[in-house]
Amino acid sequence: MKTLNVGMIGYGFMGRAHSNAFRKVNNFFPLDRQIVLKAACGRDAAKTKSFADTWGYEAIECDWKKLINRDDIDLIDIAAPNNVHAEIAIAAAKAGKMVMCEKPLAMNADEAKTMVKAVEKAKVPNMVWYNYRRIPAVTLAKQLIDEGKLGKIFHYRAKFLQDWTISADVPQGGPGTWRLDVSVAGSGVTGDLLAHCIDTALWLNGGIDKVSAMTETFVKERKHALSGKTQKVGIDDASAFLARFSNGSLATFEATRYARGHKALYTFEINGENASIFWDLHDLHRLQYFDHRDAGYVRGWRSIHVSDGDHPYMKNWWVPGLQIGYEHSFVHQVADFVQGLSDGKPASPTFRDGLATDFVTDAVLKSAKTQKWENVKKA
Ligand SMILES: NC(=O)c1ccc[n+]([C@@H]2O[C@H](COP(=O)([O-])OP(=O)(O)OC[C@H]3O[C@@H](n4cnc5c(N)ncnc54)[C@H](O)[C@@H]3O)[C@@H](O)[C@H]2O)c1
Repeated sequence: MKTLNVGMIGYGFMGRAHSNAFRKVNNFFPLDRQIVLKAACGRDAAKTKSFADTWGYEAIECDWKKLINRDDIDLIDIAAPNNVHAEIAIAAAKAGKMVMCEKPLAMNADEAKTMVKAVEKAKVPNMVWYNYRRIPAVTLAKQLIDEGKLGKIFHYRAKFLQDWTISADVPQGGPGTWRLDVSVAGSGVTGDLLAHCIDTALWLNGGIDKVSAMTETFVKERKHALSGKTQKVGIDDASAFLARFSNGSLATFEATRYARGHKALYTFEINGENASIFWDLHDLHRLQYFDHRDAGYVRGWRSIHVSDGDHPYMKNWWVPGLQIGYEHSFVHQVADFVQGLSDGKPASPTFRDGLATDFVTDAVLKSAKTQKWENVKKA
């Protein structure tokens, strides 16, 4: 069996989620390559060593350039903050490595374009970790739409709600709070949370033509965790926009870190001529489905427990009725990436698909400034 040697950059939340996926995938999916956790990379040697030991990496590096230059690495996985995605991905592509990169692909669409150019020029397989596509209930939603069960789609409605930055004492910058520092994150909830909603929406419902947005920064100044100085906050704390899809449907999107009581409530609802679907991250193994064609006396919302052998990905797990969770979406993403290598058909979302989302987030941020409808560029 061939091997696929992984070099992981970052040992935080996503470093753990990806390592878990790389470790499990060969146990559950019949692939023609064995994943090898070759080296983990982080700037702090002791922390990187501890991470490497926990997850079973053979070696560590403290400089990502050294990792990229190693001959024994096939795939560079970028699980570091947004401001380093482009530099690392472009260098990795130039070195002929496959690249998997966390979302959002880049700080903005201009930067994302340079990444697309680099991987396409080097012809290296590439993927963005928009993992929600591969939660079986979300993949089932895609299947139902592609089968035409919903008919013409009229409405798309998405929300991603959190509440962890309401206190003005939460600092910006540094470990854990780099998301509040615009120079590291690129934007606030638009690139962090709405990017997920947008990727799912583009996949399920096609391209977005134009958007009209509003954003707000509720806490205007925060202490910087690294410098200790109080600085202006440059990110958007909340972001909401209206959108028109190319298929004629209308949409609303909302994300905030100021919805008290919500930790990670990602929901979407799609209303079609014949049927509607609704999904909720807090109940991620269920898809709510309403079909107007059912006989009137039994018509109603049904709650599909997406755990049967004929549901997406589920035959690879336990027995019907037993559900899986958040971490499995990352396992599915690795499985599809590796299967794509074997089939010679790149699995999506590729960097070009990630650019499409960055074009929407750029248009959202622009519209919030201009207070006008803005057209979305096509990737
Ligand atoms: N797909 C998802 O659902 C999802 C969820 C969370 C985060 N993310 C994305 O994943 C990325 C990482 O987020 P996180 O939550 O894991 O962050 P984190 O803060 O938990 O971890 C970031 C890691 O990157 C390391 N790092 C930073 N700069 C580095 C450099 N120059 N060289 C090497 N390592 C470096 C840090 O030391 C840390 O180990 C971000 O792009 C984020 O948007 C995606």
